Amino acid sequence: MRLLLTTARGIEDIAKAEISALLDKLGVPFRVEEKPLGVEGRLLAEVDEAFYTDEKGRKRELSVSTYLNERSRLLHRVIVEISSERFEGIGEEKPEKALQRIEDFVKELPVERFVKVSESFAVRSFRKGEHKITSVDVARTVGKAIFERLESFGSPKVNLDHPAVIFRAELIGDVFFLGIDTTGDSSLHKRPWRVYDHPAHLKASIANALIELANLDGGPFMDPFCGSGTIPIELALRGYTGSITCLEKFRKHLTGAKMNALSAGVFDKIEFILGDATRLSEHFKSVDFAVSNLPYGLKIGRKSAIPRLYMDFFGELAKVLEKRGVFITTEKRAIEKAIEENGFEIKHHRLIGHGGLMVHAYVIE
Ligand SMILES: C[S@@+](CC[C@H](N)C(=O)[O-])C[C@H]1O[C@@H](n2cnc3c(N)ncnc32)[C@H](O)[C@@H]1O
Repeated sequence: MRLLLTTARGIEDIAKAEISALLDKLGVPFRVEEKPLGVEGRLLAEVDEAFYTDEKGRKRELSVSTYLNERSRLLHRVIVEISSERFEGIGEEKPEKALQRIEDFVKELPVERFVKVSESFAVRSFRKGEHKITSVDVARTVGKAIFERLESFGSPKVNLDHPAVIFRAELIGDVFFLGIDTTGDSSLHKRPWRVYDHPAHLKASIANALIELANLDGGPFMDPFCGSGTIPIELALRGYTGSITCLEKFRKHLTGAKMNALSAGVFDKIEFILGDATRLSEHFKSVDFAVSNLPYGLKIGRKSAIPRLYMDFFGELAKVLEKRGVFITTEKRAIEKAIEENGFEIKHHRLIGHGGLMVHAYVIE
């Protein structure tokens, strides 16, 4: 089976390590490729059939897609791949020609192997890059091709609201993917525990990537700008045994973080502190690790507020941080200046896609 896996751009290597560790446990041959056909935010996993023994001792096939949907902390979607193809030059083509190419391609695919004709289906689409066609055009064209192909096997049923089977068609640059979306309409990064929605919350998948980058060893951990608690909650859900602190300046967000932690079942694993990260040393004597999604400044009035805030925060961090920090922000100049002027060293830097932007992530010691 070939699975097309989606995640945030820039964390494919971390997702690959996670997926490889999960598939290793199944004891079957597999291969995971990052950025298939050069597409960012995607992985392709080729996995042999896996089996388990049920309570009556019978050998049963294990659904690898369900297994990954339930266990992965970094993936957004698990898609059973039907086909992937590069359509050279599709971006420049006139809409009718581009759509005809997609239709001709899809109608030759054995979609009947993936959906019973008695089951309702819908096509969801995703498009990124320069094209003269829209994602709605793609969904309509692919839906028509699938419908017409299934008609030779019976009477296909389309249900756009509550389909039994979701086909996912993606056109990213000149690469086209078609598969069965086993995740459903809600991406895995939208965690069921989230009852308080912070306006600038971090995707849970990225929170887990930052946690991986921090290479934690069980020592005391804090998120000094914890907002709705995404990073501390995800860390607690991983079964972290060290202390976890969530510090936030605004009561409304801290209350939201507590509500989220309650909903996630990890309220008693996290210490919540209402406080100012620019006065960190008043709250902590020492902490081994700090991982945080810094304020980006959109909500802060004055332009100079961000460099000042970062300078004050990293000055305080230098007094308490023992091991390692991981920070993510759009404000490259301000963070690099604050890191360097406060005696920290940048050990790693990468760009991560978050909400349409590429944000900067730093590992510092
Ligand atoms: C980008 S948000 C963090 C979002 C969080 N990662 C989440 O997923 O909900 C930054 C947070 O820092 C808080 N903040 C701003 N200035 C602060 C300060 N001086 N001390 C502590 N928190 C502060 C903001 O209220 C905001 O909730």
